Amino acid sequence: MEHVDFRYNNSLIDISEIDNMDKLIENVHESLCKKECEGSEFLGWIDCPLKYHTDEINRILSVAEEIKNNSDILIVIGIGGSYLGARAAIEFTNNIFSNYLNNPENKTPKVFFAGNNLSANYIAQLIEVIQDKNFSICVISKSGKTTEPAIAFRVFKKLLETKYDKQEASKRIFVITDAKDGALRDFANKEGYTSFSIPEDIGGRYSVLTPVGLLPMAVAGVDIEEVLKGAKDASVEYDNPKLKENKCYQYAALRNILNRKGKDIEVLGYFEPAFQYFAEWWKQLYGESEGKDGKGLFPASLMYTTDLHSMGQLMQEGKRNMFETIIRFHKTNSNLIIEEDHENIDGLNYLSGKTIDYINQIAAEATCTAHRDGGVPILEIDVPEFSAYSFGQLVYFFQKSCAVSCCLSDVNPFTQPGVEAYKKNMLDLLRKA
Ligand code: PA5
Repeated sequence: MEHVDFRYNNSLIDISEIDNMDKLIENVHESLCKKECEGSEFLGWIDCPLKYHTDEINRILSVAEEIKNNSDILIVIGIGGSYLGARAAIEFTNNIFSNYLNNPENKTPKVFFAGNNLSANYIAQLIEVIQDKNFSICVISKSGKTTEPAIAFRVFKKLLETKYDKQEASKRIFVITDAKDGALRDFANKEGYTSFSIPEDIGGRYSVLTPVGLLPMAVAGVDIEEVLKGAKDASVEYDNPKLKENKCYQYAALRNILNRKGKDIEVLGYFEPAFQYFAEWWKQLYGESEGKDGKGLFPASLMYTTDLHSMGQLMQEGKRNMFETIIRFHKTNSNLIIEEDHENIDGLNYLSGKTIDYINQIAAEATCTAHRDGGVPILEIDVPEFSAYSFGQLVYFFQKSCAVSCCLSDVNPFTQPGVEAYKKNMLDLLRKA
């Protein structure tokens, strides 16, 4: 199996600066292994892929089968870490237009997401889509009390109970939440909904490799055993304390060096639309983990070549306060070629016989060179393919490098105290109204 690879090549960083981080990285590695770092009660994700129980995988697969058999649509309700990973996986591995494919033979339900915003328009439009369809709900919230998913759950639960009866509806509601606490756990206990528990020692944005991500993925036909295998292999590969031999730690170290040199923004650049939700997941992971105590790189993302025609100018000649991490895929799932056209009005015959992917790869190379020449340091991550295995590897690569990055800048990777401020204001205002 090919592995995720990490490379860097820029004049801004001297090799001795990386060597100087050897000892620091070893210390961070040790504090993570011995569970002595800040937030150590949330390190369950580190060996989760190694310890995953076959019984739980089989249970997820059998519940997914049940949903596939009786539903045209699955609505996944959740926000932040409770939906981004699943959405990222489904778009990464499946046809990104799968919700528009009409194949009567295919029993895979369409998956739609709700509870990740408070837009009445969004909810109303989704209701229109599901109106005459058989559907089920998977509601995910670790705390079981987040406002956005709670509101969506109330709306879609009511729809389900009106469409079927209460008893049938209860068979179509699947809950993923804390094992003991929260309103969702109370709902599951009271109504007898099928439920899964989120391990106590795994926080929201680190939970994609638990039922939080795995159940929606399995319903959408993603091979969850391969996802876990990729993550498991990555957990072994990135357990090496030596910076020179550990690509995941090299990424963390390079980000840290660049940040100390005044680079405040990290732009994740990618050339495949199927990566869009992975980038959203990545932004949440790094933004919420690192952005505290007045510290943290601002994680941004750009989809190329689309965004070269909107943000390309700024990347090339704007303020030099950013670096770029470029994601490149070795293999795509298509060999579409440019065909010869005897009229050649568009003048594209010089490309005939070339695959569109080849042209995309050349665009990536040209972009990296241009941005590097324009003074933007570039880090590169190579991903073998759009497979469930590569997805698992990449998730683990970023989760571990994120935790290491936070430890390097002395912040707790697993808290998000700042998120409470808007919630408190909103609830105060709503209660006053
Ligand atoms: O990473 C986190 O912990 C957060 O982003 C949560 O996932 C998000 O706020 C949703 O929380 P909950 O799952 O409790 O509804």
